[in-house]
Amino acid sequence: MSYETILTEKRGAVTLITLNRPQALNALSSVVLDELIEAFAAFEADDSQRCAVLTGSGEKAFAAGADIKEMSDKQAADFYLEDFFSKWTSHLVKAVRKPWIAAVNGFALGGGCELAMMADFIIASDQAKFGQPEIKLGVAPGMGGSQRLTRAVGKSKAMEMCLTGRMMGAEEAERSNLVARVVPHDELMTEAMKTATTIASMPPMAAMVNKEMVNSAFETGLDQGVALERRLFQILTASEDKAEGMAAFIEKREGKWQGR
Ligand code: HXC
Repeated sequence: MSYETILTEKRGAVTLITLNRPQALNALSSVVLDELIEAFAAFEADDSQRCAVLTGSGEKAFAAGADIKEMSDKQAADFYLEDFFSKWTSHLVKAVRKPWIAAVNGFALGGGCELAMMADFIIASDQAKFGQPEIKLGVAPGMGGSQRLTRAVGKSKAMEMCLTGRMMGAEEAERSNLVARVVPHDELMTEAMKTATTIASMPPMAAMVNKEMVNSAFETGLDQGVALERRLFQILTASEDKAEGMAAFIEKREGKWQGR
């Protein structure tokens, strides 16, 4: 499949999706959104694909935000009537049950930071920079940043970042739990692909269930979350991959997964 603003590639069981507007620092236009929706839907539908990695092309940016040039002439009614930004969450978060990683290679600002936070986790280059600078444009985050950043780094730091628009470097992002891991810039894609390949080697239904469980921690109270975890665990014990996984352990061999 060929796209105008992104690149996609299957590497074994891992789909690599690359934002590809380096001249605009991979700004997230509506074409980018439509193409990402299509690429993630194709990943989700393809049984041979078990984990995805999203990154940005060029040396400077993962994505420097929603496309300011595209938004500058829009009126409030346009944003409201289109329910602008709603598809990001519905199609890239809610509709994608398989795991995916954001490999952040540079600026992740505004919508770029919000897109990275939609991933199941972030691996960052030591040159990555995160920020929610929307306030400087007279607006505020619109793709979940005020909620996901606050849940990741806590109120104080999220509030400071949203109110000042300052950027957070990779080391601070790791210390603040925004990213899972920081790696040297040159090793980013190797490390991200290695991690994705490890995830892709796991029993696929168990990977989906693990993702659903961890995500439920952000949606529910503790009692409800623990109850959901227990039920999902119980359902998994009925899977063919549970029988295979335990037999493989006892027989000291690698498991062969059916994905059910
Ligand atoms: C459109 C963008 C862009 C963006 C950069 N570019 N960010 N185009 N939308 N979000 C374009 C520039 O216009 C320029 O194109 C080219 O990319 C290179 O950018 P420079 O600014 O020349 O690069 P540099 O000097 O290195 O500065 C890098 C930067 C800066 C610090 C990242 O580009 C920047 O501050 N960008 C905007 C970041 C931002 O505010 N993001 C939040 C967007 S709002 P030309 O053609 O001029 O060479 C958002 C949600 C808002 O995400 C919700 C509102 C409803």
